[in-house]
Amino acid sequence: MSTPAKLVLDGVRKEFRVRGERDSFTALEDVSLELTEGEFLVLVGPSGSGKSTLLDLLGGLSKPSGGQLLLDGRPITGPGLDRGIVFQQYALLPWRTARGNIEFGLEAKGIRRRERRSIAEHYLELVGLNGFGDRYPHELSGGMKQRVAIARSLAFDPEVLLMDEPFAALDAQTRETLQDELLRIWRSTGKTILFITHGIDEAVYLGQRVAVLTSRPGRIKAIVDIDLERREDPDPAEDTDIRSSERFREIRHHIWTLLQSEVARVEQLGGVATAEQGPDGRAAHV
Ligand SMILES: Nc1ncnc2c1ncn2[C@@H]1O[C@H](COP(=O)(O)OP(=O)(O)OP(=O)(O)O)[C@@H](O)[C@H]1O
Ligand SMILES: [Mg+2]
Repeated sequence: MSTPAKLVLDGVRKEFRVRGERDSFTALEDVSLELTEGEFLVLVGPSGSGKSTLLDLLGGLSKPSGGQLLLDGRPITGPGLDRGIVFQQYALLPWRTARGNIEFGLEAKGIRRRERRSIAEHYLELVGLNGFGDRYPHELSGGMKQRVAIARSLAFDPEVLLMDEPFAALDAQTRETLQDELLRIWRSTGKTILFITHGIDEAVYLGQRVAVLTSRPGRIKAIVDIDLERREDPDPAEDTDIRSSERFREIRHHIWTLLQSEVARVEQLGGVATAEQGPDGRAAHV
């Protein structure tokens, strides 16, 4: 028997009305995708290809113009405790401290104060914010705010994690630490994760599959299986090896080529799109 689908996108279309224009703007067109229970899927695509729009739909924060989205076989009709979202821009409650922000979701779940506090401390430590629990968002740097948002979503322990470029604002070292931490949490909890990134290396490193979106409107251009030989419980030394393996480079180049052709297509249309890393890992804004 095959694993049941946890999330289903079936012919999803999203249009936006644009002020002052008669025609609406199509951000997503005929997007069909299934995530099995416990899968780690990464979504990449040029800037403006509809990645965040897709995440909003899955989060139940907006409604599709066509097609349907299912969670456990039921239509997504709004936000729910079963999904945790890390937004591209940190969405913290400004009137709550870092700890208070992490505890917020736990209150909704009815967890008692003492336990809330200890869970919050655990996740603050995990994201490297030990001792910053009493700071308010405006007293934190951008990367620190993003780490609070990540800690909040993990502490909340939802079945499905929807993450929109969560590590983009972090320094390389913190990013790699959190990538490994996320993989560890994913392996030990069996969560279903949809992860959006601009980083091709990050996509290949994290994902079991990488879905590539086209630009304007966003459609699924390709879904790439990441057939790297991973160890269940990798030690840090092995991790660096996987990134420098021949297979890793091949897959990275394949995805880079897919994205590059999209960027070229948009340039012909006279628009702007970016693919952030060259096949050799150099930053290459195109
Ligand atoms: N509320 C809205 N009203 C009108 N257009 C919108 C709205 N939200 C998004 N769009 C448009 O939809 C397209 C997709 O936007 P989206 O934010 O999903 O892109 P993205 O792939 O997340 O880009 P990035 O990589 O830059 O974050 C863009 O052209 C954007 O202008
Ligand atoms: Mg986005």
